Amino acid sequence: MNIFGSYPKTRLRRLRKSRWMRNLISETSISSNDLILPIFIRDGKNKVEIIKSMPGVKRYTIDKLPTILKQVKKYKIPMVALFPYTPNNKKDDLGSEALNSNNLVCRSIRLIKEKFPEIGVMCDVALDPYTSHGHDGVIFNKQVDNERTIKILVKQALLQAKMGCDVIAPSDMMDGRVGEIRKVLDKNNFKDVSILSYAVKYASSFYGPFRDAVGTKSKLKSDKKTYQMDYRNTLESYREVGLDIKEGADMVMVKPGIIYLDIINKIKKNFKIPVLAYQVSGEYSLIKNAIQKKILNEESIIESIYSFKRAGACAIVTYFAIDIAKKLKKY
Ligand code: PBG
Repeated sequence: MNIFGSYPKTRLRRLRKSRWMRNLISETSISSNDLILPIFIRDGKNKVEIIKSMPGVKRYTIDKLPTILKQVKKYKIPMVALFPYTPNNKKDDLGSEALNSNNLVCRSIRLIKEKFPEIGVMCDVALDPYTSHGHDGVIFNKQVDNERTIKILVKQALLQAKMGCDVIAPSDMMDGRVGEIRKVLDKNNFKDVSILSYAVKYASSFYGPFRDAVGTKSKLKSDKKTYQMDYRNTLESYREVGLDIKEGADMVMVKPGIIYLDIINKIKKNFKIPVLAYQVSGEYSLIKNAIQKKILNEESIIESIYSFKRAGACAIVTYFAIDIAKKLKKY
């Protein structure tokens, strides 16, 4: 690449001199349109519960969901992602609760579609919130079994679509599930329900606080490395995305976020498809704890979101979504 000009004729500081000038020449921008807020749901009534490992993030009983949804609406955040904290007595080896049309996610979708129809709903397709072993699929011969799992996932996806879910987001990392889900949705007249595939999902330590938030941490006795990706690899991410697009994915997710910006950028450059990024729980907690301890300031949140935009993400799933939407005008 040619670098034009030289000092002292060229002074890059000229364009940094004032705030309006910096605004004028800025290359990226973010707005609340770019944000997706994950919401944790729990059973019971009239409870908003703190999550120790994720300061500032809460679990809501369904009757309390409107408190957070009102904020989502006010700050014009387009979509929420729902995650259930399933009570232990509803968990089993097959994750059967995933197929209960009155489970926490199904009831929440119905509530949102009835009371907040302008808010988009995205749901994870994976069994981990429902299994007694905390894995995303069912276990057979000591392995998370691909085909047996897909059979359940397609039912879970169809149920979510029937409830009114707008964006089906398989996060389980089974091979071939996107195609099977697309087939079932089309067959049942849900041609316009979209699929956001968590195509590039690495087996990451940064999911730790999330597993705490959905109550799978103590259940999970091993890691997820036989189905989630190896963080030493890049090429594999192209294969994952390519296959998922062929199977019918409308959008793809890269996850985690900040520590995988290189991957976001490469996927964006190589595939002509919307790429979303997930600033996961561990990334959230790092920043949030540092802010609480006054090691970082609040602007670090905005800075972290810009990194996704520079990399090429069109939208970011982040636990900071409301904080960001509130702050946006300030910076
Ligand atoms: C479950 C799922 C996980 C996350 C989203 N969906 C965790 C996992 O795969 O163990 C992580 C989100 C986060 O850490 O914020 N399939």
